[in-house]
Amino acid sequence: MSPLNALVQASRAAGEGWTPDPAHRLRRTRRTEALRALVRETRIHARQLVAPMFVFPGTGRREPVGSMPGVERVTPDEALKDARALAALGIGGVILFGLPADKDATGTGGWIDGGIVQETLRRMRDADLDLVLIADTCLCEYTDHGHCGPLLGDGRVDNDATIELLARTAASQATAGADIVAPSAMMDGQVAAIRRGLDEAGAQDTPILAYAAKTASAFYGPFREAAGSTPAFGDRRGYQMDPANGREAMREMEVDIAEGADMLLVKPAMPSLDILATARAAFDVPIGAYQVSGEFAAIEAAAQRGWLDRRRALTEATTSILRAGADFVITYAAADLATWSREAR
Ligand code: PBG
Repeated sequence: MSPLNALVQASRAAGEGWTPDPAHRLRRTRRTEALRALVRETRIHARQLVAPMFVFPGTGRREPVGSMPGVERVTPDEALKDARALAALGIGGVILFGLPADKDATGTGGWIDGGIVQETLRRMRDADLDLVLIADTCLCEYTDHGHCGPLLGDGRVDNDATIELLARTAASQATAGADIVAPSAMMDGQVAAIRRGLDEAGAQDTPILAYAAKTASAFYGPFREAAGSTPAFGDRRGYQMDPANGREAMREMEVDIAEGADMLLVKPAMPSLDILATARAAFDVPIGAYQVSGEFAAIEAAAQRGWLDRRRALTEATTSILRAGADFVITYAAADLATWSREAR
């Protein structure tokens, strides 16, 4: 029992009235919005926000994603328009996911120079936007079986073959204009392989944002609908982390830093706030967090039913991710949050 609680109880037991210790009236700084704004510890700034984008081949087309209100799959020309609008809002960056015209066993559409993400990157780079262009480096959107790399005979993902293809993917993304490559396949040794692949391609200066602590989360459901990347059989628990393991997440991050990761990503965000806070204290590299599709969709769905205030819930969720230690947040609400952060005092 805290000393204060003990005092309250003792005073109640003695039948005395109780008044709080005058030295500790914490409500004093909460009296007005001006006071609250003065002592606010965490603020959302548009530059800390990264917007995910889903691109598919073609021109002039947009398709809504049913499970994520306001999120659309777009063709590269439309993606460029969206990116301009996001830059005008002052947003920090975009992260690109591709839906290729064709899928095959080795995810060729992910690593060829003519890939859909590469094409979109070239357009965005040529437009010289004030945005950081991030490429998600994974093969699950490009394989016909939906796993994150080519398979061994027994159906498991072939780790060592996959990291070579991820290195090719990253090199072609960097060459096409990616400012950052973000490997998300959770293969062992992927960061080292990608660093080597980037350096060999002349992209020594392209940083790696490692999805280091990425769990096999139930919260990726809407993304898989958006990206068409649901595994055709089985699940990803053989390579993504068990959400129950916090210490193992720290090992994943240590290994990725040792392999050459320039920044770390924790994902999903709200279910991993403890990992984020521990990582913030343990490592000095920049750390981002991915507020994933299911975290966003859950708030949107509740808001549509009138069960939650959309703006307040999205703001609180994102603020808590920053408070836990994230330097930046990947979020499907980036545009709204940027607009709201300008309105906020
Ligand atoms: C690719 C990847 C996934 C997400 C980001 N990169 C899907 C997955 O691992 O199944 C999920 C993002 C989200 O849910 O918003 N491996």
